[in-house]
Amino acid sequence: MASIAELLEGKRVCICAGSGGVGKTTSAAAIAAGMAARGKRVAVLTIDPAKRLADSLGMPELGNVERRVDPELFAAAGIDPGTGELWAMMLDAKQTFDEVIRKNAPDAETRERILSNRIYQQLSAALAGSQEYMAMEKLYEIHADDRYDLLVLDTPPSPNALDFLDAPRRLLQFIEGRALQVFLKPTGLGMRVFGRGASVMFSILRRITGVDLLEDLAEFFGAFGGMVGGFRERARRVGELLADPETSFVLVCGAQDEPVAQALRFHDKLVESKLPFAGAIVNKVHYGGELGSEGADLVPALRAELGDDGLARRVAANFADFTALASHDRHNIERLAAALGTDAVIEVPYLDHDVHDLSGLVEINRYLFASGEKERAVTVAR
Ligand SMILES: Nc1ncnc2c1ncn2[C@@H]1O[C@H](COP(=O)(O)OP(=O)(O)OP(=O)(O)O)[C@@H](O)[C@H]1O
Ligand SMILES: [Mg+2]
Repeated sequence: MASIAELLEGKRVCICAGSGGVGKTTSAAAIAAGMAARGKRVAVLTIDPAKRLADSLGMPELGNVERRVDPELFAAAGIDPGTGELWAMMLDAKQTFDEVIRKNAPDAETRERILSNRIYQQLSAALAGSQEYMAMEKLYEIHADDRYDLLVLDTPPSPNALDFLDAPRRLLQFIEGRALQVFLKPTGLGMRVFGRGASVMFSILRRITGVDLLEDLAEFFGAFGGMVGGFRERARRVGELLADPETSFVLVCGAQDEPVAQALRFHDKLVESKLPFAGAIVNKVHYGGELGSEGADLVPALRAELGDDGLARRVAANFADFTALASHDRHNIERLAAALGTDAVIEVPYLDHDVHDLSGLVEINRYLFASGEKERAVTVAR
């Protein structure tokens, strides 16, 4: 088993991808903290981190900027990062979208017209829902600043990790798609037909609400039209950054059947898209067998110990379930390692508590950064 530091050797961007709830945010924060502890300047971009984790690292809820994690926290965890620094940020998708508009607008007037436009405000809130693309945008922006040795990107909660990779294509499809193009040509048939049919409705709305939506619409598409080229170009550069040899994807998954199958599909897609894969973190692994007596009947020994036959049977049954879970995990990890190579798979045990502060991340790092012989832990089924 490799250590994450070895897998990230020579890399400047690490993208932690995986399906919902597997531990992407935890892994991203732990990798960033671990690399900072090894003397690097690291920034981690998190998405919807658990509030306790965000609070404990001092990430501001608003602002969309990186904040330095207090070096005192490292000292308290018994770590001397030397010249290392950890910066953390919580992605604000809507604000990131506004920044993209600011950068792409040809002039200050167009920029203000778009940002204050009611249609834009609605649309951007909807598009910002495509957090995947906004995460890539922010990554691109911070990378362009060139202030960090390593950038670690957490990815949004999504049932399917593959959604992340599809984000630039989806955004371009929307921008270049028929629906938007119809409106971007103000003299085109679409706008004229729409204009006539809708103008009655809009004029009624204007009378009732005093808001002129048609004017907003025409103005928005007028101003936005000039920016499509900029968007396309930016999406292309974001795509290039993802494919850069200094970028690496780290797959985070659980050890059950479906997460492992998904991880394999994600890996195939990375290979097919020629995107750089560093390795997989199998998180929340159950280990059994430390007692060395899976097959033996534990009931008599437990009865003697506990003095209660019913309780002894329940404890033995619980242990048997746990051992079965552990051997199932083992089987799946072997399947994953056979496909990806043993050196590309890192295991992290299911800890018996949540990970919500720097010392929790340091605990995870005992496994992420352990090279050679596996560190194993007896974990308690929850
Ligand atoms: N190895 C572990 N042992 C025990 N708890 C863990 C471990 N890794 C993560 N957790 C806990 O599991 C929960 C989910 O983790 P996390 O938020 O990192 O997942 P995620 O993949 O980012 O989820 P989402 O897809 O919703 O963003 C958190 O409460 C975290 O503290
Ligand atoms: Mg998360």
